[in-house]
Amino acid sequence: MGLQICLEFGQKVKQRLGNPLLILSCQRWCLFFLSALASRATIRLYPQQFPYSLECRPTPKQLKANELHSIVNDFRLAAHNAIEAGFDGVEINSANSYIIDLFLNDQVNDRTDEYGGSIENRCRVALEIIGAVVEEIGADRVGVKLSVFSEVYGKKDSNPEALMTYLASELTKLGVLYLHVFEPRDEPCRLKSIRRAFEGTLIASGGYNKTEDDEAIAESYADLVSFGR
Ligand SMILES: Cc1cc2nc3c(=O)[nH]c(=O)nc-3n(C[C@H](O)[C@H](O)[C@H](O)COP(=O)(O)O)c2cc1C
Repeated sequence: MGLQICLEFGQKVKQRLGNPLLILSCQRWCLFFLSALASRATIRLYPQQFPYSLECRPTPKQLKANELHSIVNDFRLAAHNAIEAGFDGVEINSANSYIIDLFLNDQVNDRTDEYGGSIENRCRVALEIIGAVVEEIGADRVGVKLSVFSEVYGKKDSNPEALMTYLASELTKLGVLYLHVFEPRDEPCRLKSIRRAFEGTLIASGGYNKTEDDEAIAESYADLVSFGR
């Protein structure tokens, strides 16, 4: 039923808008930090940012390595369905304490298997998911959103530059279309350091105004800037 609604919605949006220049992208995210991976059962929350009570939530558990395969497959299937529904591409939300972000962050991920520890290990699940989606729908339909420089509902990685540089170069190898990076409002321009590591389109996000937007483009450290508020 859900898939049927999604398919019909996608087709209708495409027909209604009917603009060949308009690119529709569907964002795919999975399992927020309150529901799944709890590598270190303490969840670092900032009550002023996240006012909901944790008391009624189930205690999160650490996912077993073999359970991760079905999550990778869920992303693959969702991407397939999005394209079938008429979207032009998908953005894989690997930011803001969603599941991929939890694996990336060394202040959250304390696994001792091949998905924890080194940067390569912490990026493994991200690259497996993104790799599967690329295989399914093609790299030119895939964007990735990251927020490793920010504290969104959690604590920032201890070395976001190194994490980001590694990930950006691996995403270049996978050929993803764009990287969309949410930067902290009080520390803008962190993208400069990864510009060299990523060869696709780089989108900056987070606290930009028109002047800063123009500067970012003029200095060529971002190709595009996105705005939320
Ligand atoms: C109310 C609200 C909801 C948001 N929801 C999402 C979301 O679902 N997925 C996402 O990637 N970013 C989400 N964002 C973040 C924005 O896409 C964007 O990265 C961020 O707001 C940019 O910073 P700015 O608001 O300072 O321009 C949301 C932002 C706001 C304000």
